[in-house]
Amino acid sequence: MSKICVIGSSSMDLVVTSPKRPAAGETVLGESFKTVPGGKGANQAVAAARLGAEVHMIGCVGDDHYGKAILDNFQANGVLTDYVEPVTGQESGTAHIVLADGDNSIIVVKGANDHVTPEYVQKALPAIKQADIVLIQQEIPEETVDYVSGLCSSLGIPLLLNPAPARPLRPETVEHAAYITPNEHEASVLFQGMSREEALKRYPEKLFITEGKNGVRYHNGLEERVVPSFPVNAIDTTGAGDTFNAGFAVALSEGQSIESALRFANRAASLSVLKFGAQGGMPKRDEVERELS
Ligand code: RIB
Repeated sequence: MSKICVIGSSSMDLVVTSPKRPAAGETVLGESFKTVPGGKGANQAVAAARLGAEVHMIGCVGDDHYGKAILDNFQANGVLTDYVEPVTGQESGTAHIVLADGDNSIIVVKGANDHVTPEYVQKALPAIKQADIVLIQQEIPEETVDYVSGLCSSLGIPLLLNPAPARPLRPETVEHAAYITPNEHEASVLFQGMSREEALKRYPEKLFITEGKNGVRYHNGLEERVVPSFPVNAIDTTGAGDTFNAGFAVALSEGQSIESALRFANRAASLSVLKFGAQGGMPKRDEVERELS
């Protein structure tokens, strides 16, 4: 069983389903409201655990009832929580999601996730040093992402950086990461002034641009390649990117080739959108393998 550390956010998703997205100044009547576990870090940790890895989550929750529910959810999914601490007097992170017109829009309030500092991460060094791969995203402080990239590089542990939500990265952080997985919008923020082709060619087998229904695009050192996604009728795409990143990390940590790892990740992501909620449709390992065979 491969060992994965996920360093990132743990939040509660407050999800409104509505026939229409309100314009500025407009009020619309929604259809339903649900509260479900989310946060990009937590989603990736849960997805990786369901896909068969031993997963340590490194993060913070609030000392509120959401924090307790987030911890319970990790435990129900077999994610190790030795390095998930409640922060006294702090609210848990929340994501305010509108599902309308077949897509989502999200506002994240970081709350306790802002306490995932470089000093906090240092407490988890014993787990990080044992990891086959580390996953990180950008719903935690920027200096933590920079610190972890340097740490993983110095320890010789591959870091998969999912640069979401989008913000520019320091050149050293890009150099230190083993894999970077932006979507098209995030890639345009990261590689300003460079065309997609130039960016992919500059970072062969490091930069993987996810293009939703089209699949994933990367450069293998010789040519640009697209590994196609699996067509499905999506119910809720929230968390599909997180499932992709978790699947990619799990497959890579098991020694699969890049192409095989991307197929595995795409298949897992395609299954994840068949149910409501970021984590609702995240598949178990045997479901992905059944579909792939
Ligand atoms: O990637 C999906 C996640 O982004 C949601 O679960 C929400 O928490 C937001 O952070």
